[in-house]
Amino acid sequence: MAHNLINSLARRSFLKLNQTEHYPVLYREVHQFTNDYLSYKDTSKSVYQFLDCTFGGGNHSVPLLEKHQNLRVLGLDLDSKVMNECKTHYKEYICQKRLALEHTNFVHAQHIDPRQAFNKKIGITQKHDIVLLDLGFSSYQLEDIERGFSYMGNDDQPLDMRFNIHSPDQSTAMDIINGATELELCEILKKFGEERFHTLLAQKIVEGRVKLGKVKTTGDLKQVIREGFPNSARDEKNQMIKRAFQALRIATNYELLNLQKFMESAPQHVVEPNGLMMVITFHSLEERIVSQYLNKWRKNKMGDFGAKKPLEPSALEVEENSRSKSAKLFTFVFS
Ligand SMILES: C[S@@+](CC[C@H](N)C(=O)[O-])C[C@H]1O[C@@H](n2cnc3c(N)ncnc32)[C@H](O)[C@@H]1O
Repeated sequence: MAHNLINSLARRSFLKLNQTEHYPVLYREVHQFTNDYLSYKDTSKSVYQFLDCTFGGGNHSVPLLEKHQNLRVLGLDLDSKVMNECKTHYKEYICQKRLALEHTNFVHAQHIDPRQAFNKKIGITQKHDIVLLDLGFSSYQLEDIERGFSYMGNDDQPLDMRFNIHSPDQSTAMDIINGATELELCEILKKFGEERFHTLLAQKIVEGRVKLGKVKTTGDLKQVIREGFPNSARDEKNQMIKRAFQALRIATNYELLNLQKFMESAPQHVVEPNGLMMVITFHSLEERIVSQYLNKWRKNKMGDFGAKKPLEPSALEVEENSRSKSAKLFTFVFS
C-alpha cells in the first residue's frame, strides 16, 4: 500500500449537533488507507462492508459513501442521543440501504447480522472488509452540558459520563465517586488515570465528599481536588483534574475492558480474511492494548501492520484541532 500522506488539514464536521461540530481525527489518513485498500482489492466483490464501531456523527465513514458507490457502512454507537440525530440526518443513505445504524456496544459487533441490517442485500456477508474504531468520546458529548465529560466547561454539569444515557442499570460517574471505597477510588485513579498521587488523591476525594455531602457536579470534583492540594502549583492541579476525569470516564464506561473484548474477538468473528482494521487511540492505556494485540497477530502470522509505525496527526491538524494532539492511528491488514 502506498502511504504517501500529505500533511492534512482537519476535516470539517459533517454533522452539526446543537451548534457543536466534531472534527474527525486523522480523517485524511483513514481515508487514504480505505481508498488504497479498496483500489488494491480485486473487483470480484460487488460490495465492500465498512464497520464503523464508534460512529459518533459519522464524520469518518459517511463521506466515504459519497466516494465509493460499492461501499456499505454499518455504524455502531452507544450514544442513543447522537444516534437518533444521525438517523434523521443520514435518512437518505439509510433509505438507499447503504448505511445502517445500530445503537449498541461494539463488543456485540459479531452478533449483528449485516444481512438483516442491509435488508438481505445480495453480496453482504457476516464479517466486514474494513473496521474502524475511533476510541473515546466525541465533541458532541464533551460539549453537552448534561453529560459531565468536560473539566473545562460549565461547573454545573452533573457528573454522569455514561456514553449510553439510556442505561438505567449502569453506574454514573457520580455513583462511582460517591459510592466507591477509598481503596476502590485509589485503584481507579491509578489504573485508568495513571495518577502518581493516587493514594493521596483518593483520600482527599473521600474527605471532600464528606465535607460537601455529595460530589454532584464537575465543579464539585474540581473543587475537591483544588482544596485537597492547596500548596500545589495551578498547572499540577489542572493535570490532576484532567487525569481524574479520564479515570472516572474510563471506569464508568468500562472502556478498556470493551476494547480488550473487541480485539479478542475481531480477527475470528468481525473482520473478513484480508480485511483492514484501523484503530485511533488517544492515550497510552488504549495504545498499550491495541499494540499488544497487533503484535500478537503479526507474530502468529495473521497479517501485517498497514503502516510500520502508528500514524500521528500533522502539526497542521493539531493546530486546527487541539483534541487530535495525542491521537495515534494503528492499522493492520489480515492475510
Ligand atoms: C471519538 S467519537 C467517534 C467520532 C466519529 N468517528 C466521528 O468522526 O463522528 C467515539 C464514539 O464512540 C462511542 N463509543 C465509545 N465506546 C463505545 C462502545 N463500547 N461501543 C459503541 N460506541 C462506543 C462514543 O459514544 C462516541 O460517540
